[in-house]
Amino acid sequence: MNTGMTKALVTGGNGALGSDVAQVLREAGFEVHVTARDADKAAAFAAMPDNRGLSAHAADLSDFDATKRLMDEVGAPLGALVTTLGGFLGGPLSALTEADVDRLIAVNLTSAIYTVRHAYPLLRAHQGGAHVVLVSARGAVTGGPGSALYSAAKAGIANLALSLSQEWLEDGIAVNAILPSTMDTPANRRDVPDADFSRWPTPREVAEVVAFLVSDKARIVSGAAIPVYGKS
Ligand SMILES: NC(=O)c1ccc[n+]([C@@H]2O[C@H](COP(=O)([O-])OP(=O)(O)OC[C@H]3O[C@@H](n4cnc5c(N)ncnc54)[C@H](OP(=O)(O)O)[C@@H]3O)[C@@H](O)[C@H]2O)c1
Repeated sequence: MNTGMTKALVTGGNGALGSDVAQVLREAGFEVHVTARDADKAAAFAAMPDNRGLSAHAADLSDFDATKRLMDEVGAPLGALVTTLGGFLGGPLSALTEADVDRLIAVNLTSAIYTVRHAYPLLRAHQGGAHVVLVSARGAVTGGPGSALYSAAKAGIANLALSLSQEWLEDGIAVNAILPSTMDTPANRRDVPDADFSRWPTPREVAEVVAFLVSDKARIVSGAAIPVYGKS
């Protein structure tokens, strides 16, 4: 598809935050591509009325070669990349299994590294520069009991933005991380039913910050780790 619009890729675009990011970027005039984990989920996403006009791709981004195939499918030039793909696992560090550690690092940190690794030629091909937003988490800068593994993986993502903002400076590719606190998602409402939900940022509010960061107005912002905490 060649629409003449600037292309944006949202990984994990069928998730709670990712779907709002995809919709906000479509409203901002981007040609939006999203990833879901498998073909069934990609088809289900594309079939939802709210997602009309969004292109869905199936890819497991914890797989190096699958991530490369995704980028070949999306194609250059890419003006905006937003990595919302991720997953949480809480509990004491002493209870973690080898599989827990492998899975959490893979879904959060490894997937982000593979994504930016393979997206680079597409981003570089975009005339006038490109924007990357990596979704980290508040725990990256605060840590927290019961979230050591998750917070460490998310700290890696924030640090990735810091390094790439320097490595890709001359390419005109701005790279920032955002640090959401607990967001007001159905899953979080289920998990913490007694919380005051009004204090949490909504995915839509976080998506609006992402839309600013991938806009020309944010051209001079790179290497930041931006708190998006609402009132929490
Ligand atoms: N929710 C919060 O309160 C919160 C707070 C701070 C930071 N964050 C971060 O914000 C991001 C979005 O959170 P969310 O609540 O929107 O999460 P979500 O609804 O669970 O969405 C995550 C997405 O990533 C996909 N995914 C996971 N592993 C994958 C893999 N190996 N290959 C391909 N796709 C994969 C999931 O697909 P499946 O549906 O197939 O699993 C899902 O579409 C995450 O990085 C999360 O860590 C969230």
